[in-house]
Amino acid sequence: MRPARTAVIVPAAGRGERLGPGAPKALRSLAGQPILVHAVRAVAAARDVDLVVVAAPDDAIEVTRSLLSGIEHDAQLIVVAGGETRQDSVARGLLALPSDVDVVLVHDAARPLVPPEVVDRVVAAVRSGAQAVIPVLAVVDTIKEVDGDGSVTRTVDRSILRAVQTPQGFRRDVLQQAHASCDAADVTDDAGLVESQGVMVSTVAGAEEAFKITRPLDLVLAEAVLARRRASDGVG
Ligand code: C5P
Repeated sequence: MRPARTAVIVPAAGRGERLGPGAPKALRSLAGQPILVHAVRAVAAARDVDLVVVAAPDDAIEVTRSLLSGIEHDAQLIVVAGGETRQDSVARGLLALPSDVDVVLVHDAARPLVPPEVVDRVVAAVRSGAQAVIPVLAVVDTIKEVDGDGSVTRTVDRSILRAVQTPQGFRRDVLQQAHASCDAADVTDDAGLVESQGVMVSTVAGAEEAFKITRPLDLVLAEAVLARRRASDGVG
């Protein structure tokens, strides 16, 4: 029997309105290539990833296929149409998974610079028995709660807070069950869905370079990170 496989679903169908007007966020250029190309290359470079399923903007499926066809990697690649919400896009990716996949990661296309070691840590934690795993970082800013007028009501103890990144990893049955039974519009990540089903979520160390491109300044930072990587690789 062939061993079970690990898949990464990459939701890439968001419009990216906070980035300003233009193409869907995942197709915008970062150092001369679409953000999505960087993201798929990053996850496909991880040791244990066998399959990448991209949920693309539904008016850009063919464009996405041809953009991704140029990437060199050993993983299998499937492109499907994304949905109205991030959760819909992930659900469509789940539907496309072959039956021999037993571990599923979900990785935002908007985090194109995730180091492959973070992907490997998440896969290893699920393969070691965790049902759900998220990469996290300590919170560096002081966080306060405010009321409707913007007045501070409380300072939160940041030592117990974590900023959550992707890829998030799951046993396939756990993620599928959570998607089938929960349709909460305010859930912003997949771990939130499985938490609402009472599933224990574990954490592993994230990485600063796995930040999400949301606003224009994030693109400037991402270009700088790539320039630094190129300089240290002696490329360009
Ligand atoms: O908007 P935000 O940055 O939170 O989106 C996170 C990820 O979810 C992005 O990679 C985006 O392309 C994806 N997404 C999606 N389908 C949607 C909305 C967002 O695949 N309808």
